[in-house]
Amino acid sequence: MLFRNALIENSSEARDIRTENGIITEIGNLTEKAEEPTVDLQHKLVLPPFIESHVHLDTCLTAGDPAWNMSGTLFEGIECWSKRKNKLTEEDIEERVNKVVRMYAANGIQFIRTHVDITDSSLLAMKTLIRLREELKNIMDIQIVAFPQEGILSYPDGKHLLTAAVDMGADAVGAIPHFEFTREYSVESLDFALNLAADRDKLVDIHCDEIDDEASRGLETAAARALELGLFDKVTASHTTAMHSYNNAYVLRLMRLLKMSKINFVANPLVNTHLQGRTDNYPKRRGVTRVKELLEEGINVSFGHDDIRDPWYPMGNGSLRDVVFLGLHVCQMMGYEDIMDSYKLITHNAAKTLHISDHYGIEVNKPASFIVLDAENYYEALTRDSVVLYSYKNGKKIAENLSPEKKVFF
Ligand code: FE2
Repeated sequence: MLFRNALIENSSEARDIRTENGIITEIGNLTEKAEEPTVDLQHKLVLPPFIESHVHLDTCLTAGDPAWNMSGTLFEGIECWSKRKNKLTEEDIEERVNKVVRMYAANGIQFIRTHVDITDSSLLAMKTLIRLREELKNIMDIQIVAFPQEGILSYPDGKHLLTAAVDMGADAVGAIPHFEFTREYSVESLDFALNLAADRDKLVDIHCDEIDDEASRGLETAAARALELGLFDKVTASHTTAMHSYNNAYVLRLMRLLKMSKINFVANPLVNTHLQGRTDNYPKRRGVTRVKELLEEGINVSFGHDDIRDPWYPMGNGSLRDVVFLGLHVCQMMGYEDIMDSYKLITHNAAKTLHISDHYGIEVNKPASFIVLDAENYYEALTRDSVVLYSYKNGKKIAENLSPEKKVFF
């Protein structure tokens, strides 16, 4: 198949992409072969597929059931979820996940890393997501983190549940050090999680310091263990909102360790601007980690949505556009180059986080997976909120959006 006139990754020069058997075989100014199916992309922006590097599929689409989170805090969210968890059934999870995965697919997302709550003695959500990971693989690549929402040491049998979930087939080990009862538990929980990952050859993704407490220092322990155990970029620190409140002298020292450790970061600007700063009077902290400074130090950062209509966040439509849009504002990354490059926060950088860069990207001999946006470049796409016209995955069209343009008659 020949895709003509593609503006690949903000290039101003159109090129053609040839695909065969789900693989990209040529990129350049190509000549159509006899009877070769051809699609004219009409000088539209072509990007590698979007990647959702942090979401909770098991909780999505549950906002208000059985109760709305009235205070809007993370901790009331966890209380609401404890009640909703009692109503979980396999059918309930399956129906919501199927729905939200299709919402994502319609917006050009082809890869999702989902955290799945394993503080449940039946491990029902984990079992269901493992089955759905296989059933949905033609439309979405799903990576599963075994996520101990209520703690590893602070929840009955937490260590056993985490180990069982990992051995059941999770792709990554999670932890939540800032939620553990004590600082000692926090350190021990990270030791346990990272050792488990090293032992089972798994990735790691930690809900790390998602709190406004400047004394929350799970990050330094996570980075030190990533370095010492040789896990390096297999480890991701999600949220790290406390870093927003750390003093600069401490951050200066911490940055050295972060660079040595090679760990990845995921920021979730929509959810953390909503959840953080709740105990502040004015001025209220923004609560998003130091994205700009981390990127300037050459540290990998991607953006995630985190929650879609659940006890922690009442909105979301499965598009990562708003995540990037708001993230650029709150991180003060509004220079033209910053805006043009910001698609990398939900493509290449996220691919590094998911450890899939080897088979990701618009290059010869890589899977024929890409998306086409109704724009010439990402500045225009973000500014105009352009739709994803087509999404091709391994050479197959999995989504299309050719809805008519908005019209004004005066
Ligand atoms: Fe999260």
